[in-house]
Amino acid sequence: MLRAITDAAALAARGIAARSADRAHLEVRLKSASDFVSDVDVEAEALIRDRLAQAFPEAHIMGEELAPGAPPARGITFVVDPLDGTTNFLHGYPEYAVSIAAAVDGVLEAGVVHNIATGEVFAARRGAGAHRDGVRIRVSAVREPARALIGTGFPFRTVDVLEQYLPQFLAVAKATSGIRRAGSAALDLADVACGRFDAFWEPLLSPWDFAAGCLLVQEAGGLATDLAGAPISLTRSSVLAGNPEIHRWLGDTVARAGIHVSSTLPRTAS
Ligand code: IPD
Ligand code: CA
Ligand code: CA
Repeated sequence: MLRAITDAAALAARGIAARSADRAHLEVRLKSASDFVSDVDVEAEALIRDRLAQAFPEAHIMGEELAPGAPPARGITFVVDPLDGTTNFLHGYPEYAVSIAAAVDGVLEAGVVHNIATGEVFAARRGAGAHRDGVRIRVSAVREPARALIGTGFPFRTVDVLEQYLPQFLAVAKATSGIRRAGSAALDLADVACGRFDAFWEPLLSPWDFAAGCLLVQEAGGLATDLAGAPISLTRSSVLAGNPEIHRWLGDTVARAGIHVSSTLPRTAS
């Protein structure tokens, strides 16, 4: 499965890179406020679907643009974001990726995040570690929040969630050496896995944004959960990932700062 998703991601990445020079002529559509999709996203997902269906005809293929519905509980499911960081892609900001995960009976088994602009390929298989371009990677060893660099994503689609998020942002900004918002959750998680970020949080993401990246973090020795510390599953959810110490600190800090946002369990901090 890892070989199949790595090949499918590379195929889509080549197609997307070829179209990037001609960005001015893309067909772009607004899905909802500040949420864009282009014909490149849809074509890339179709390419990935064809490739994976050939190799695994029995599998369910969940994808952001063509099949976003909940997957069956049993069997093989591929979770596909053909282009994570669409807004970056549309602006030529070089931070966008193909993200594909493979799950069996709901358990993540393999994941790949292919950075299209740099060519870096992050891959993980459950129990076999995480790698960047074939070289083993590990989460950082930073233990003090004051030395930590934290990745995040702004909940730009929903004003309510943004209002809950801003106190969290303030609390984290005051206590750490910096916060970065690069615009691709899959790459943010890959950056946690290889130790560039010490942790990452985002209040609301879809499974195709985080499935592959969360497996990368876990296989690199880190923790990836929702904001309440519960295991992630293939549903819309908050995400909290990091090396074990900074994961714990960030979860406590965000909880103290305000309301947790998660698809299933909205809760008020104690
Ligand atoms: C988005 C990116 C972004 C995150 C958004 C996602 P898309 O994915 O991962 O970093 O903040 O919530 O939807 O729409 O570019 O595939
Ligand atoms: Ca995405
Ligand atoms: Ca996408």
